[in-house]
Amino acid sequence: MEHPIITIAELPQHVGRKVTLRGWVYNWRKKGKIRFVILRDGFGYLQCVVFRPEVPEPVWEAAVALTRESSLQITGVVAEDQRAPGGYELKVSDIVPIQIAPEYPIGKKEHGVDFLLNHRHLWMRSRRQHAILHVRAELEQAIRDFFHGRRYTLIDSPILTPAACEGTSTLFETEYFGEKAYLSQSGQLYLEPAAAAFGKVYCFGPTFRAEKSKTRRHLTEFWMVEPEVAWLRFDGLLDLIEEFLSEIVSRVLDRCSEDLERLERDITVLEPATRRPYPRLDYADAIAALADRGHPAEFGDDFGGDEETVLASLHDRPVLVTRYPTKIKAFYMEPDPGDPARALAVDVLAPEGYGEIIGGSERISSYELLERRIAEHELPRDAFEWYLDVRRYGSFPHSGFGMGIERCTSWLCGIHHAREAIPYPRTINRLYP
Ligand code: 4AD
Ligand code: MG
Repeated sequence: MEHPIITIAELPQHVGRKVTLRGWVYNWRKKGKIRFVILRDGFGYLQCVVFRPEVPEPVWEAAVALTRESSLQITGVVAEDQRAPGGYELKVSDIVPIQIAPEYPIGKKEHGVDFLLNHRHLWMRSRRQHAILHVRAELEQAIRDFFHGRRYTLIDSPILTPAACEGTSTLFETEYFGEKAYLSQSGQLYLEPAAAAFGKVYCFGPTFRAEKSKTRRHLTEFWMVEPEVAWLRFDGLLDLIEEFLSEIVSRVLDRCSEDLERLERDITVLEPATRRPYPRLDYADAIAALADRGHPAEFGDDFGGDEETVLASLHDRPVLVTRYPTKIKAFYMEPDPGDPARALAVDVLAPEGYGEIIGGSERISSYELLERRIAEHELPRDAFEWYLDVRRYGSFPHSGFGMGIERCTSWLCGIHHAREAIPYPRTINRLYP
């Protein structure tokens, strides 16, 4: 007899019908003549009920032999059942074991995080990790849709590069046929020429920082989305950031409510971020606000995690800190015309101590100034000739920003460490699996 092979997501369309599902044993329980198998297929969880008097003996034996995370094919009639987790149940008529798993390393007892990270390839099957990575995927799709819908062209930037973008202290170096190459810290420099070719562009890919920091926000490999827009000035950039963040947060809240519930995330603290405007805080005012709250800081200081937490706690939604001192920011940032000691730079600080999730700026458009900055920062001029061409041939005002996907995902999910927000984290002491 023919019956469809479906996923758990498709159960509502098959109530009362016999179907086959394929997946893994998330868990099982016994109760007299009943065996409950909780099936997991990547789309959800389904309680499958095997009732001994109603199945042939070999099917019962197959059910009894199933261990956690064994793979199987299971057939039965879909029933709506308010008491069952998820609201549906499968009344089992047949089981085909595919592979019986030996004792699963991740048990019900508490494991240390190192153990779990060593088993990341298995850990991602757990409900919590599944929910986090699902939110991440939705966030990424929301980002792509945001830019694609506004006619930005996707420009994939290279990973092997001849020079630094975000400071020489965090470069991963590698041999390149007798020369040195570096893993990209940002696609930005490659996007600026593309903005002259396409007007509005973005890149979205892995970036690398050989950062020695062991904080909960730092990864050595992380994913960044970076838009770059021709003719966009600083104020327009701030508007774009607001429009972007509020839209992608709304989308995740709309589409990931089950995941966020699973993560016990308090959504009411995320909701303000779906509404514009976002507060804007001048760097000088940020310094004053810190001093008022017992964090003495002086003009020229960069903010650490503690300072960012204090500044973010002044508001219920992300705050845009603007016009940082030129000295503590990247070489390519346009100076504030009213105060050249400051850059037209913005950092977006997320609430609840999640810190900087976005960094951006207007870019220098003067050839002479950019040339001088490259020299002041002792960057290898040869490696930047092509970048100077953007100012040589039809220079134009332009701005852009970069957002780290793991930091944003951590904030949305309310998780402590960014390493859980990426499928396979890379940190200063982790390259496995
Ligand atoms: O502030 P950053 O260094 O800015 C740039 O790379 C610019 N070129 C972006 C641009 O204007 N196109 O990094 C941008 C964001 C940070 O706000 C943070 O979210 C994330 O990238 N980030 C990291 N995430 C995880 N681990 C790290 N080590 C990170 N470093 C930066
Ligand atoms: Mg930054």
